[in-house]
Parts: sequence; structure tokens; C-alpha cells
Amino acid sequence: MIAFVNADLDIRKKPIFRNLNFTIQPGELVYIVGRSGSGKTTLLKSLYMEIKPVKGEVIVNGFSSRKIRKGKIAVLRRKLGIVFQDFRLLEDRNVYDNLAFVLKVTGTKHSLIKEKVMTALKEVGLEQAAKEMPQNLSGGEQQRVVIARALVGDPVAIIADEPTGNLDPETSIEILEYLKKINAKGISVIIGTHDYDLVRHHPSRTLMIKDMNLVECTIEPAPSGTCWHPVPKQAAVAS
Ligand SMILES: Nc1ncnc2c1ncn2[C@@H]1O[C@H](COP(=O)(O)OP(=O)(O)O)[C@@H](O)[C@H]1O
Ligand SMILES: [Mg+2]
Repeated sequence: MIAFVNADLDIRKKPIFRNLNFTIQPGELVYIVGRSGSGKTTLLKSLYMEIKPVKGEVIVNGFSSRKIRKGKIAVLRRKLGIVFQDFRLLEDRNVYDNLAFVLKVTGTKHSLIKEKVMTALKEVGLEQAAKEMPQNLSGGEQQRVVIARALVGDPVAIIADEPTGNLDPETSIEILEYLKKINAKGISVIIGTHDYDLVRHHPSRTLMIKDMNLVECTIEPAPSGTCWHPVPKQAAVAS
């Protein structure tokens, strides 16, 4: 469903990735990890084609970065639920209207909107918050609203860039529980994060950015024993 083929990604002519070759199957939950500035956001942006490879291609849900026309990028994005660290909820309308807004702009039939919005809110345990203004909710609740907003259009994948970056550790773990529940329904979930503790709590396929490429890794205790860090899989086998 997602494939990178010999793909090079640049930001303003600066090379960020070279010769990416990997696939993500439908229904996988995958972490993209790496230190700040390593390219997590760049990689995620290439999935919704905000950045296109300067060489090679990325194929997402049947659309190739080499062939996709502008109008089709909007079609692709409707099938991807995008979650950011900084929530980006509309503060001048309540939770219900934040979700309904997405459906209205994509031309969903009026009679279906209420059901779809309430189903998505239920998914994150917030149906009772429909009438609240986003800024009156806690950070964790706001991020759950964002996840519901990402779900409301029936996406094939959720793409989450540091979804727990503004949350405390307990709330971060809870957010991951919701993302895992969504993943269990068959929706792919791709998460960019530098929170290795979180990955350790909810282990899943993990790709680490290293030398402008991605390597499969596991999250293991650091030698000090106090924190966790990614170890390339082959190295883990060898040691
Ligand atoms: N707007 C920008 N202008 C110039 N360079 C940028 C910009 N955004 C990102 N970069 C560069 O791209 C690299 C990768 O950034 P990014 O994908 O945001 O990393 P991450 O999400 O892992 O922190 C950074 O090291 C930075 O040098
Ligand atoms: Mg980033």
C-alpha cells in the first residue's frame, strides 16, 4: 500500500534521504524513529505528497508521486487521516463541528454527517464532549479529537507526526492505545516519533533513520539502563 522505490528526498536541495526502498503493508502499525532533524516529518510529508522525491518514487494507495496530478493529491489526502503534534483544531467551533467540517468540505451527504461524527467520537471515547470547545479540553482529549477528525473520512491510513509530542508520558501511552485500537480495525498507522519509551510500551515494526536511510530496529535498554534507544535489527542479532 505504501512503497518507496529508489527514492531520494531533499529539503531545499539539502539531501535528507537517499535511495529509500521499503514497503508498508495495509494494516501495519509502523514507527518512524530518529533524532530531531533526522527527517521524520520529511518522510511523513512525502506520504501525503507535500514533498515529492527528487529521484525514484513513492506509491501510496495506488498513486505514484511521479504521475499524480494536483487534483488527485486532494483525493489521496482524503484517504489519509493526518495527525499533528500541535492539534490544529479550529478554536471557533465545538468538537462536533470540527469533525463535521471535514465531511462538509468533502461533500458528504448531510444525512450521514451526524452518524459519522458521533461514530468517530465514540471511537476515542469522547461522544460526551461533542459540544465542548476544543480549548476547554485537556491536551490528551484534544489529541483524541484530532484522531477522531482523522478517522471521520474513513481513511486507509493514519499518519501521525509526533502525536504525543505535547503530552505527558501516561497520556502518550493512552493515545497509542487509541491508535492501536484503530489499527486493529485494519487501518494502517504510521507514527513519526522520537519517544522511544512510547515505542517500548507499545512495540511494533520500527524503522530508524540512519545515514539518510531507514533501517529496521528494535528498542532496547540503553547501557545505563535508564532509557531506551533503537538498535538496528542485524546488530541486535549479532550481539
Ligand atoms: N523549512 C525548512 N527549511 C530548511 N530546512 C529544513 C526545513 N524543514 C526541515 N529542514 C531540514 O530538513 C531536515 C529534516 O527535518 P525534519 O524532517 O523536520 O526532521 P524531524 O521531523 O526528524 O525533526 C532538518 O535537519 C532540517 O535541516
Ligand atoms: Mg518532525
